[in-house]
Amino acid sequence: MERTFVMIKPDGVQRGIVGAVISRLEAKGLKMVAAQFTVLSEEKVMEHYAEHVEKPFFPSLKAYVMSGPVLTMVWEGKDAIAIVRRLVGATNPAEAAPGTIRGDMGMETGKNVIHASDAPESAAREIGIHFTKDELVAYTRIDEAVLYE
Ligand code: GTP
Ligand code: MG
Repeated sequence: MERTFVMIKPDGVQRGIVGAVISRLEAKGLKMVAAQFTVLSEEKVMEHYAEHVEKPFFPSLKAYVMSGPVLTMVWEGKDAIAIVRRLVGATNPAEAAPGTIRGDMGMETGKNVIHASDAPESAAREIGIHFTKDELVAYTRIDEAVLYE
């Protein structure tokens, strides 16, 4: 099964929509295999957003993701990476389709509620930044027997 890294950003935590976001992922059929409620260190943010460090918006992105606690998670399922990206929606919540997390729950790019890995390589890289191997929990959820063909 594929794994993807998901993070509810500080605005999502402050707005009290952590449960609502998790419910969507759970209802879809994805399985949470790791979670940590934490404030990100500068080192982790630089590593996590390495591709954006030189961008003009990086200082505001860094301040935003370090502005309060986040919920970092790993979710597992068939095609989990692409499926979660579709559930999350476009980067700018103002343009994200209704029915997506950003489309239904956010207003602006700089406060877009959630992060999700965009490809297998970034998922592996991001999971490695935020979790150790022993923090990923292997278990079977009862609904797996009826979830997949
Ligand atoms: P992530 O899942 O968080 O990686 O979002 P994404 O993959 O949809 O977008 P991308 O990786 O291009 O950008 C990473 C994050 O930087 C976005 O989610 C935004 O929070 C922030 N960001 C990107 N572009 C801008 C911008 O133009 N202005 C501001 N303020 N923030 C931006
Ligand atoms: Mg991204």
